[in-house]
Amino acid sequence: MVYKTVLALTATASLAAAGPCDIYASGGTPCVAAHSTTRALYNGYSGSLYQVLRGSDNATTDIRPLSAGGVANAATQDNFCAGSTCLISIIYDQSGRNNHLTQAPPGGAARGPNSNGFDYLAGAFGAPVTLNGQKAYGVFSSPFTGYRNNNPSGTAKGDGAEGLYAVFDGTHYNTGCCFDYGNAETSSLDTGNGHMEAIYFGTGDGSGRGTGSGSGPWIMADLENGLFTGFDPINNPANPTISPRFLTAIVKGQPGNWAIRGGDSTSGSLSTFYNGARPNNGYNPMSKEGAIILGIGGDNSDSAQGTFYEGVMTSGFPSDATENAVQQNIKAAGYATTSLTSGPALNVGSRVSFRVTTPNFTNRYIAHTGAQVNTQVVSSSSAAALKQQSSWTVRAGLALSSCFSFESVDSPGQFIRHANYQLMVNTNDNSKIFHEDATFCPQTGVNGQGNTIRSWSYPARYWRHYNSIVYIAGNSGPHEFDNPAVFNDDISFVVSPSFA
Ligand SMILES: *[C@@H]1O[C@H](CO)[C@@H](O)[C@H](O)[C@H]1NC(C)=O
Ligand SMILES: *[C@@H]1O[C@H](CO)[C@@H](O)[C@H](O)[C@H]1NC(C)=O
Repeated sequence: MVYKTVLALTATASLAAAGPCDIYASGGTPCVAAHSTTRALYNGYSGSLYQVLRGSDNATTDIRPLSAGGVANAATQDNFCAGSTCLISIIYDQSGRNNHLTQAPPGGAARGPNSNGFDYLAGAFGAPVTLNGQKAYGVFSSPFTGYRNNNPSGTAKGDGAEGLYAVFDGTHYNTGCCFDYGNAETSSLDTGNGHMEAIYFGTGDGSGRGTGSGSGPWIMADLENGLFTGFDPINNPANPTISPRFLTAIVKGQPGNWAIRGGDSTSGSLSTFYNGARPNNGYNPMSKEGAIILGIGGDNSDSAQGTFYEGVMTSGFPSDATENAVQQNIKAAGYATTSLTSGPALNVGSRVSFRVTTPNFTNRYIAHTGAQVNTQVVSSSSAAALKQQSSWTVRAGLALSSCFSFESVDSPGQFIRHANYQLMVNTNDNSKIFHEDATFCPQTGVNGQGNTIRSWSYPARYWRHYNSIVYIAGNSGPHEFDNPAVFNDDISFVVSPSFA
């Protein structure tokens, strides 16, 4: 089938140096919310992009662009967070309307995992990228992670017109509800059909969830009680499976009409996958409420995952030409991948052991007893079986080859994976979730020794030994094993040649 290809707007001289929101403004549809942890979205913006929260002392700092209109100063984060862990605590609104995104509160569908019912904050190191060679960090949203603003200013309400775009990682998604960015209920409750208008990305399944062609993921619109790819609530075959590493995703709506568009953020132009009538049954007219969500559904449904780099909400229905110019700007920003690992190198194919560095426990190594991963005292005079139980073969990451997976030496085909926050040794069933749960990204040990092993799929969490059991733990999270005491030592391991 042939998709409508839209000619790119020829950038005028005055827009040559413009940011996305300058382009939207010149098109008569100004940004009323502008969020990015990677760069300024206005040519003149030099204020704060986002705030990070440090695990060791709960101190915060703001990350700004290197210069007005520029890329985030990632070195500020790297320096501030060195020797500790960090979370992204605020994503500032660059539009001047104070539409900042902060930790999402509990909603009708779900209380978040924290004791106050709030969702998780994203780990600050889960989504490193470069923009024209300069390092920046995106927002890697694991399940139960969410940001929200329920007291917005200037966003579309009722049947009011708006445009939304976001740059996502097109390879990071799941079927859970709902990895969204955009307009939602101000109450965090499902207040009925048409009370949301947000970009959704993933393979959303179950009742009320639409599909496009192929097996997904798809860009869809979360309009509440339904993920839509077009007029037909079930399927729009013109909406393709789309999964470039950097994905520009667009949803826009005006009375009686809405559209989905998308493309590769690094090449080519945008295509229109739907532009037509509103669905029936409460979606025409719309009843938008104007709150802003990221990583969750309107009622705080929080089981989805995805990665966000930048996005905006506009006032008014942007023209295709305006959006095409924004796409050219995104391409020119030069998004590219970069290393997810740091610290002492691990070599695929080698066999390693992981020694604890917490004082008084440094004779213990990561081992397993059956499926349970634990720490045990191991030495060169230990029994052969224990030497094997504490030895691991380094493999390329099952979900992502630039990180690693660890195969048990005594149980080939079985890998360390996290399940319900605990490390287990399980047989690789080749499922997407197993591969993701078994992929880990080592970084420089936060206590200055060895490596700290970050979960790829929950990058706010790290291998941690606690009462001789090994978990993926987040500093000061809701679980007992998230206890901040000796956290940095407990998550740092010296990687050495294996015992067996
Ligand atoms: C940080 O704040 C949390 C939540 O108030 C608290 O549980 C934790 O102990 C604090 N951590 C430190 C290192 O002060
Ligand atoms: C290590 O063990 C010694 C002797 O049992 C004890 O006095 C000391 O407090 C322990 N140190 C730490 C850091 O737990």
